[in-house]
Amino acid sequence: MYEEYLSQKVKEIKPSGIRKFFDLASQMEGVISLGVGEPDFATPWKIREAAIYSIEKGKTFYTANQGLLELREEICKYQKRRFNLDYDPIKNTIVTVGGSEGIDIALRALVNPGDEVILLDPSYVAYMPGVQLAGAVPVTITLTQENQFKLTPELLEAAITDKTKLLLLNFPNNPTGGFMTKEDYEKIVPIIKQHDLLVITDEIYAELSYDEKFCSIASFDEIKDHVILISGYSKAYAMTGWRLGYVLAHETFIKAMNKIHQFVIMSAPTAAQYGAIEAMRHCDSEIESMQQSYMLRRNYIVEGFNNLGLETFMPQGAFYIFPCIKSTGMTSEEFCEALLNDQKVACVPGTAFGDAGEGFIRVSYAYSIDQIKEALGRIELFLNKIRK
Ligand SMILES: Cc1ncc(COP(=O)(O)O)c(C=O)c1O
Repeated sequence: MYEEYLSQKVKEIKPSGIRKFFDLASQMEGVISLGVGEPDFATPWKIREAAIYSIEKGKTFYTANQGLLELREEICKYQKRRFNLDYDPIKNTIVTVGGSEGIDIALRALVNPGDEVILLDPSYVAYMPGVQLAGAVPVTITLTQENQFKLTPELLEAAITDKTKLLLLNFPNNPTGGFMTKEDYEKIVPIIKQHDLLVITDEIYAELSYDEKFCSIASFDEIKDHVILISGYSKAYAMTGWRLGYVLAHETFIKAMNKIHQFVIMSAPTAAQYGAIEAMRHCDSEIESMQQSYMLRRNYIVEGFNNLGLETFMPQGAFYIFPCIKSTGMTSEEFCEALLNDQKVACVPGTAFGDAGEGFIRVSYAYSIDQIKEALGRIELFLNKIRK
């Protein structure tokens, strides 16, 4: 009966399809979960130590709204060193509560009611609600396995109308592991320029790129000022619980986002910011070794799924595979529910990431090889039963 008090926008938002599965799985004993998009590594010790030390020293106050200047300087140095991007710590940088806040404030600062925002389908679960809450109209582009889940110029052209304001990209991609190379971007950048679009690029998995060199769409000078770059510490640095990320963009956009951030958040967690300074200065080798470990797991799990007859695209980044389960004749949701009930293995239905995810499941390989091996064994038992 309290429903009537709720805002219309909130009522229209569907609950996360990932959470639904985890709530089910958490009530069962002996479940192996390959569901959560979260590193299994603890945060590197140097980062934890720096944060603890900051607390010991009594650095327990709010920071500047945009974040500690020392951290913003390190972020800009890091982006230059690693991806050859030039940003100014004062004009172009804001430290946020995870990439999540960055996505939210970027959308809210940039779109007006009726503006169309192009989203990829499948895509990360927070984008669609983010666009809806910002009052814009989502327009989806269906990406396919045949195109290696890349955005092609034809697909982009076909989605643009005179109401299109913004394109939301995420490569390496959650959930598909799809990847855009420099050459892939070269084909879509002229279209973005021609139609005067803004781009939010969620590069939270940039460091977790495997076979090809990561290229940011912000590295194209002709559209750089139209690009809002989101990144953070959760994935590459194994810092999900610290809730820290950042946005890099043109000064006008940063000022607009800071207007929302200063009233809603004030400043991102202070101890996390001190930890992040250490992360950017001294943890390249730690990220590298986690990246190497994910790559081994990727190779192992892709081979495992393909051997089970579930066709699996070789992802080029992030830590997910997106196996096709169409050969079982089940829907994604039926497959995941039956697998959970029969063998206690939790995966996420592809449909949690958009309609184009039907016929696929998302499996995270941010788990140990032993867990992956055990899960593959159980999935084999399950498939043997349903294929009889
Ligand atoms: C593509 C993508 N963007 C953003 C996030 C959220 O990251 P954060 O923990 O930095 O808020 C996630 C988390 O799964 C993600 O997969």
